[in-house]
Amino acid sequence: MIEIQNLQKSFGEFRAVDGVSFSVKPGEVLGFLGPNGAGKSTTMRMITGFLTPTGGAVRIAGVDVNVDPISAKKRIGYLPEGAPLYSDMTPRTLLEFIAEAREIPSAERASRIEKIAAKVNITGVLDQQIETLSKGYKRRVGLAQAIIHDPEILILDEPTDGLDPNQKHEVRQLIQEMSKDKVIILSTHILEEVEAVCTRAIIITQGKVVFDGTPSELKGRSPSGRLDDVFREITTGTAPVTA
Ligand SMILES: Nc1ncnc2c1ncn2[C@@H]1O[C@H](COP(=O)(O)OP(=O)(O)OP(=O)(O)O)[C@@H](O)[C@H]1O
Ligand SMILES: [Mg+2]
Repeated sequence: MIEIQNLQKSFGEFRAVDGVSFSVKPGEVLGFLGPNGAGKSTTMRMITGFLTPTGGAVRIAGVDVNVDPISAKKRIGYLPEGAPLYSDMTPRTLLEFIAEAREIPSAERASRIEKIAAKVNITGVLDQQIETLSKGYKRRVGLAQAIIHDPEILILDEPTDGLDPNQKHEVRQLIQEMSKDKVIILSTHILEEVEAVCTRAIIITQGKVVFDGTPSELKGRSPSGRLDDVFREITTGTAPVTA
């Protein structure tokens, strides 16, 4: 469904993404891990066609994102880092706008918005100005706009960042539920999240893939069985600190 081949992105002399290759099949929930500045968001921006690669290619169901960006983007729902939104709109007017842009028939829009709002728990704030919403509610509005067209592919850049523990749990459940018929790539700094929702983990450091395997394979790398030890060892080369 998603094929990434030798993807590269340079900003001037700096290589933010340095030859990343992997493919993702339906039913997979891929967790992107890596230290700050590793190149996770830059890779996601290239997968979603928001950033043009310096080299390499991204294919969505066989279609190169840079050759036919519109047909690729139709299949993708994207929650960008920090969930940027138009803050002077309300969730309802924003979702109406997105629904129209996503070509959802006008007769279906209102009911689709109600359904999505219930899914991400924003029904009570649908008519409140986005600027005045708390961080967690803004994140949930960001999730709503990513899934409103029921895309086959979901790219979620830190979907649970800023959510309270209950909402983290709910969003993880939502991700699990959606994974039945979608391909999902999410990034996170919460290692337990990878165990909780991902079927596969990729660790990126300095623009390169340094681990690609299942969460249990990742855990198995450390004698202590602690994910943060393995993460530290893989990303810094430092021996794990044993508990
Ligand atoms: N437009 C840009 N111009 C210059 N440098 C950039 C640009 N966008 C990203 N970078 C640099 O590329 C590197 C990778 O950034 P990226 O946002 O992909 O990291 P990340 O893995 O998502 O990190 P985080 O965990 O902090 O979100 C960083 O060093 C960043 O400063
Ligand atoms: Mg990022």
